[in-house]
Amino acid sequence: MLPKRRRTRVGSPGGASASSAPAPTRFPGIAVYLVERRMGRSRRAFLTRLARSKGFRVLDACSSEVTHIVMEQTSGEEAVCWQERRAAAAPPGCTPAALLDISWFTESLAAGQPVPVECRHRLEELLEHGACEEVERVRRSERYQTMKLFTQIFGVGVRTADRWYQEGLRTLDDLREQPQRLTQQQKAGLQHHRDLSTPVLRPDVEALQQLVEAAVEQALPGAIVTLTGGFRRGKLQGHDVDFLITHPEEGQEVGLLPRAMRCLQDQGLVLYHQYQHSHYGDPAQHSHSMDAFERSFCIFRLPQPPGASVREAPKPCPTWKAVRVDLVVAPISQFPFALLGWTGSKLFQRELRRFSRKEKGLWLNSHGLFDPEQKTFFHVASEEDIFRHLGLEYLPPEQRNA
Ligand code: UTP
Ligand code: MN
Repeated sequence: MLPKRRRTRVGSPGGASASSAPAPTRFPGIAVYLVERRMGRSRRAFLTRLARSKGFRVLDACSSEVTHIVMEQTSGEEAVCWQERRAAAAPPGCTPAALLDISWFTESLAAGQPVPVECRHRLEELLEHGACEEVERVRRSERYQTMKLFTQIFGVGVRTADRWYQEGLRTLDDLREQPQRLTQQQKAGLQHHRDLSTPVLRPDVEALQQLVEAAVEQALPGAIVTLTGGFRRGKLQGHDVDFLITHPEEGQEVGLLPRAMRCLQDQGLVLYHQYQHSHYGDPAQHSHSMDAFERSFCIFRLPQPPGASVREAPKPCPTWKAVRVDLVVAPISQFPFALLGWTGSKLFQRELRRFSRKEKGLWLNSHGLFDPEQKTFFHVASEEDIFRHLGLEYLPPEQRNA
């Protein structure tokens, strides 16, 4: 999670243009130019680095050397414009560069070598058949709808959703027909899909907090439960409910989560849960959004007060509702960092961490604030302390809805 090569990045804005160092070229006949428009600067820089690492020659400017111009989500109009530019750029008597869809490039990267250019890769062909925009729009919206549907399922990330889409799966029933493909988590997500795609509301949160507090108190008297996530930021609805658990005495928190889970299960409140040990010191497990805390990803069976309508006109009224809940345990020394991280929003955290690294030279995550030059961690007692160390005015959770 912590960037190791901070220094090398300083002074090299915009990744793609800073790479004039000659990379060994494995495919001398080919010089690729990636059009930044619609692809975006960071994706272009990423694809450039990846391609170069695989031995492709990717040029920063669209010079006469370019043999393959690659574009993403191109409109007919843009393709025509590039068609003219490319013809003008080619020296007299030379074949103009091919105008290709990004699919040619990603397929080539996956293959580790340039794949043969086929009709479907060529934007010109598509233009001549008059289908470019239309086909793209339909394809994009079908893909978008399917990705949205699949990634909303508990336990399904972008990669899985994309694989299923590529394999032709489109609906929840398609997935239900193939249970052998699904993890336990995904099965539970599908099983409770209707409830889980209904927003969680404030009264649900309050009821859950009482249940969790009681179970935690029983598991470890004196332990503290704090509501985090969007609801701490004052949101009125959410996709799940996040709780952070700690104990004022460092080390006391060890072992409390399994006991609290058992207590909740004994009351019939847990439809599904996946326990994850803490994995401090295993950087392979870290990513931008995940930390190393002990946690339980759960689906609760939350009793509903009589008369509460969860679904459209059901008779009789449902007596319970499935709700996604995350329980996270942090030792008290890391608690302020965990609270800050888990309160979000994701975008706010990303920006705060970027600010910390770029402006202050300090590495912030949900476990701590590290000074890489002094090689020391800061000790803090509150979120306010963290803002102070960063030289920032304290922002209450309601103002972190970036
Ligand atoms: P959520 O995904 O629950 O978002 O993560 P939210 O803001 O509560 O909004 P809802 O639930 O969609 O309504 C809450 C915060 O916890 C962080 C996320 O980055 C986000 O800022 N988080 C999540 C972590 O710090 N670590 C994790 O492993 C997962
Ligand atoms: Mn949440």
